[in-house]
Amino acid sequence: MGRAGKRSDKINVNDKNTVLWALFFEKLLQNVTASVMVTDDAGKVIFVNENYLNFFRFDEKDIVGKSWIDVIIPQDQRPKVEKIFNDIKKRKMLGKFNTPVNGKKKTDDYLCWIAIPLEKKRTMLYTFIGKKGDGADKRMVKVFDNTKVMLNTAYAEVVETIFSAAEKSEPGTAKHAVRVMFFAVTLAKKLKIKKDGIERLKVASLLHDLGKLALDDRILLKKGKLDEEEFREIKKHPIVGSEIVSLVYFLKDIIPIMANHHENYDGSGYPEGIKGADIPLEARVLGIADIYEALTADRPYRRGFSRDDAVDIMNGEKGKKLDPKITDIFLEMVRNGEIEEVV
Ligand SMILES: [Fe+2]
Repeated sequence: MGRAGKRSDKINVNDKNTVLWALFFEKLLQNVTASVMVTDDAGKVIFVNENYLNFFRFDEKDIVGKSWIDVIIPQDQRPKVEKIFNDIKKRKMLGKFNTPVNGKKKTDDYLCWIAIPLEKKRTMLYTFIGKKGDGADKRMVKVFDNTKVMLNTAYAEVVETIFSAAEKSEPGTAKHAVRVMFFAVTLAKKLKIKKDGIERLKVASLLHDLGKLALDDRILLKKGKLDEEEFREIKKHPIVGSEIVSLVYFLKDIIPIMANHHENYDGSGYPEGIKGADIPLEARVLGIADIYEALTADRPYRRGFSRDDAVDIMNGEKGKKLDPKITDIFLEMVRNGEIEEVV
């Protein structure tokens, strides 16, 4: 059985996406500092984290599997909250609202909700609390204003969590990814790619091989040459990785980079076989960084190529695997010592 299937008995291991989703979110959401709840499209609670249970003094059975609005929102408030919730889901955007607390908490507490629509018909809700008359309202407004800060924190937490999961799955992944990130970002700066493009490239570099998490250990850790069937499996990793990050609203921008990092300039790559400028620029940059890293890194079964040998090999790939113009710029940087070893 593959790695993903070992993680939980509670979920249907035949549905790979369900397994990956569960694996990913359980890790992620238990680690974030806010109270978090995930609901399905109908508002039924699928998941709450520890912070959430402590916050409401709930047991899992009080809330999981039930409609969150029925359990938490006072009856007279329900239509209003339902409307806001549906709007957020429909428009696929972030939304924020506050409601009085029902049930096990005092009624003068107010909750601030920040809803983040996810793919697969799920919505994630972050919860904050405030009290009437103690300045908490103002604080709540600040919390609303700080949505971006909070999302950035969540974003960093997401990346870090996935990153460490990948390292556990395939030791050496982290070192590879950090070196790739450094090479890619250094090249991107030289190409004058804009700041947000560089940010995307950073995260995509760290997570580009995430889809390998779904591979069987037999293939992932195999030392010798892969047979045809095994290679077919490996080739799925850009898409599987993209599917995983597509579950997270704020990681969407890195999908085109992740999905295309094994496309070749001449169209001989995978998964789609697109070529030239059809391959997103940032994916071409990541591809160059990835190959340079792979060539120069020491592996358990071989020493890495010297800088000069790596340059020769990559020169030979210009116009084949690699974008010739960008590769020229990169190799020039290597020769000038602008691409120094970092790790
Ligand atoms: Fe890859």
